[in-house]
Amino acid sequence: MSTAKRVAGEAAAELVEDGMRLGLGTGSTVAYFLDALAARGLDVAGVPTSEATATRCRELGIRLLDVATTDALDLAVDGADELDAGLELTKGGGGALLREKVVAALADRFVVIATRDKLVDRLGDTFPVPVEVVPFALGPVGRVLTERGFELTERTDAEGRSYRTDNGNAILDARMPAGIADPAVTDVALALIPGVAAHGLFLDLATEALLGDDEGGLLRRS
Ligand code: A5P
Repeated sequence: MSTAKRVAGEAAAELVEDGMRLGLGTGSTVAYFLDALAARGLDVAGVPTSEATATRCRELGIRLLDVATTDALDLAVDGADELDAGLELTKGGGGALLREKVVAALADRFVVIATRDKLVDRLGDTFPVPVEVVPFALGPVGRVLTERGFELTERTDAEGRSYRTDNGNAILDARMPAGIADPAVTDVALALIPGVAAHGLFLDLATEALLGDDEGGLLRRS
């Protein structure tokens, strides 16, 4: 039980209004949001960003929307692995980055819920950038990233096998030793590598952040 995550998740649930179409993020902080949302008993529905979130929503009785027929969302709520003062994010620690980015881009309002210690001066300070790669392209993508100065770790599952996302792709966790100097340049550069399906830099997407701490405090950033 994390007080900091619970405080952030519960504060986000208070932003939800009857009838809203939601983006439902992934991760341990979002788990608190989903519990608090279900407890409010509102008539809402949402697009889940992972199979894990979809399963949890079914257990909690939160109605799901099909992204194929959803043109816009009122509010998306999701966690983050890092955020900076401008609300730029690193995401994908849970492997759901591709669907998370699709859903965040559909939302009028994207609220990040996290613990206060995830605030960083520079993206990449504490967390590598997860890069989701089509398995066929793992070798070539890995070579390009290494040439550009990233230190790579291929993500593995609990049994030590190459990790697979909900989309059937692999993840390279790409660490830049001194952090990401220019996230906007890196954002485009990563996206343009053939075989990269998505990456974990989320720029110009978050509209506000709710950051909990272990004393039960909440910091709001927008
Ligand atoms: C999932 O892929 C991630 O983007 C999560 O939202 C992120 O890793 C934060 O997760 P926690 O809330 O579990 O820290």
